[in-house]
Amino acid sequence: MSKIVETILKHSHEPLLDKVLLSEEQLQIRIAELGAQITRDYHGKDLLLVSVLKGGVVFLTDLMRHISVPHSIDFMAVSSYGVGVRATRGQPRITLDLNTDIRGRHVLLVEDIVDSGHSIDHVLRLLASRNPASIKVCTLLDKPSRREVYVPIAYLGFEIPNEFVFGYGLDLDEYCRNLRFIGTVKAEYQ
Ligand code: IMP
Ligand code: MG
Repeated sequence: MSKIVETILKHSHEPLLDKVLLSEEQLQIRIAELGAQITRDYHGKDLLLVSVLKGGVVFLTDLMRHISVPHSIDFMAVSSYGVGVRATRGQPRITLDLNTDIRGRHVLLVEDIVDSGHSIDHVLRLLASRNPASIKVCTLLDKPSRREVYVPIAYLGFEIPNEFVFGYGLDLDEYCRNLRFIGTVKAEYQ
């Protein structure tokens, strides 16, 4: 068990938290705005929201309740990080594929964060090859200073500095996804 997990199980996330980067209120206000924008842009279109597990799932469930055009949802999973690993290693792997035929659908990929860009680039290429009517990216967070491959972001919640963040879907060694805010990790735990 990692030092991080040991600490979380004993004392909760508090000892690891450096500062709250985005409060629950800031997140909810921005997500409502994104939902309204998506509602306007996808009026009359057959929308499919695709969430990338597991990080994107908390964002998806809040975002979809602010989208008032009819739509369906589906999930994919991509693995690029291992527990305790803070840098993308090698080629991302699709560990769960869609259950939906996306041909002719308007696909919106809903991500927690675009970091190096490799995971989302991989998913975008794969889904584009299946001939959707359109495919766009909606990400809650963007860490542009870490980008290694170009990712076209159509909808963005917040641009953040190059710090490891957790909460609101983003994990610390698989824990803390339930937090309602997004925080940064103290240097000694990074
Ligand atoms: P990529 O480097 O853009 O491929 O990022 C892939 C994934 O790494 C993201 O979708 C997140 O799940 C995870 N990730 C990147 N940065 C952070 C972070 O600061 N905290 C937690 N997870 C992160
Ligand atoms: Mg993710």
